[in-house]
Amino acid sequence: MSSWWRSVDPAPKDPILGVTEAFLADSSPNKVNVGVGAYRDDNGKPVVLECVREAERRIAGNLNMEYLPMGGSVKMVEETLKLSYGEKSEFIRDKRIAAVQSLSGTGACRLFADFQKRFHPDSQIHIPVPTWANHHNIWRDAQVPQRTFHYYHPESRGLDFAGLMDDIKNAPNGSFFLLHACAHNPTGVDPSEEQWREISHQFKAKGHFPFFDMAYQGFASGDPERDAKSIRIFLEDGHLVGIAQSYAKNMGLYGQRVGCLSVLCEDEKQAMAVKSQLQLLARPMYSNPPVHGALIVSTILSDPGLKKLWLKEVKVMADRIIGMRTALRENLEKMGSPLSWEHITNQIGMFCYSGLAPEQVDRLTSEFHIYLTRNGRISMAGVTTGNIGYLANAIHEVTKSA
Ligand SMILES: Cc1ncc(COP(=O)(O)O)c(C=O)c1O
Repeated sequence: MSSWWRSVDPAPKDPILGVTEAFLADSSPNKVNVGVGAYRDDNGKPVVLECVREAERRIAGNLNMEYLPMGGSVKMVEETLKLSYGEKSEFIRDKRIAAVQSLSGTGACRLFADFQKRFHPDSQIHIPVPTWANHHNIWRDAQVPQRTFHYYHPESRGLDFAGLMDDIKNAPNGSFFLLHACAHNPTGVDPSEEQWREISHQFKAKGHFPFFDMAYQGFASGDPERDAKSIRIFLEDGHLVGIAQSYAKNMGLYGQRVGCLSVLCEDEKQAMAVKSQLQLLARPMYSNPPVHGALIVSTILSDPGLKKLWLKEVKVMADRIIGMRTALRENLEKMGSPLSWEHITNQIGMFCYSGLAPEQVDRLTSEFHIYLTRNGRISMAGVTTGNIGYLANAIHEVTKSA
């Protein structure tokens, strides 16, 4: 029998989703999953926000299911831009932003990468080390060559600010840079406000293009407005930015795939042209984005009461994570760990870049049934009052002799 696909080898497992597969296959009652970046409540259960449930009730049975336009829900996009550019942004007022609804944050990044390739075919993308692993896949599949820049400093487990600034200076003028707006994944290390200002100035001097991936707005500080500070600093300095936004984490709409890609332009005419080209890219890929998640978001954000409830619920999620950071550090210190665990509480957002070596992670998994990626990234969203003692003890055991 002839086969069309004889030359097809199995694809390598996704480093993050593979962890969940292994976790599900483990029958141990003690098993813990701190691999995937999805929020869990203190009982380890997935959460649907109350504002989302209420929006669903209001939507249910009321609307048709016609296609959205290629650029998605206008109302959802309008509300989304207010979160990133600011409620009273002059750029929104002057219609200088080309924006379309995207298939969550991943889709926004991919659409931008394709747009970059189409209109700057010889450009490259500068990506931080480390970054969310999918960034590499996204720009690779869009056929944009990648360069990396220094970001994380393994010894201090903080920001390699000097290395970062050097790389910005040394990149060819007019380079594209991918920046995490807040709650950097996987390190949980963000520049301070002052450092963002310096980065922005240097970008200006070099004529670089800042593309912000903002997958965790609200998850760093608990306040979406505060978490947009990096972007606002760049806007104040007159940069024309690109932004990928996602409601996966901050509204818990993971599987709804709702997000937004925006590109700030010089004027309204340019914004219309850019938007039309983004739509042209979307048309043969997925035609138009899904309607339900966008309706949930626009229902919540356009109703002052529901928006207030959302802000409260985002803060509850962020605060629970911050609380778990403190508790994990305290547990390790109480156990008499000779190592410093200060970075657990210095880092912010969903992840703790623990500094565990791949072999130590392997031991956590094989001896303690604790699942995480081999780079030592712990999703703090998976840590609960119920598993924190077990987790801390296991980390202590595997790091004792280090
Ligand atoms: C840095 C970063 N960007 C983008 C995403 C995209 O997520 P989604 O496509 O679910 O919005 C994630 C999710 O883990 C992320 O961590």
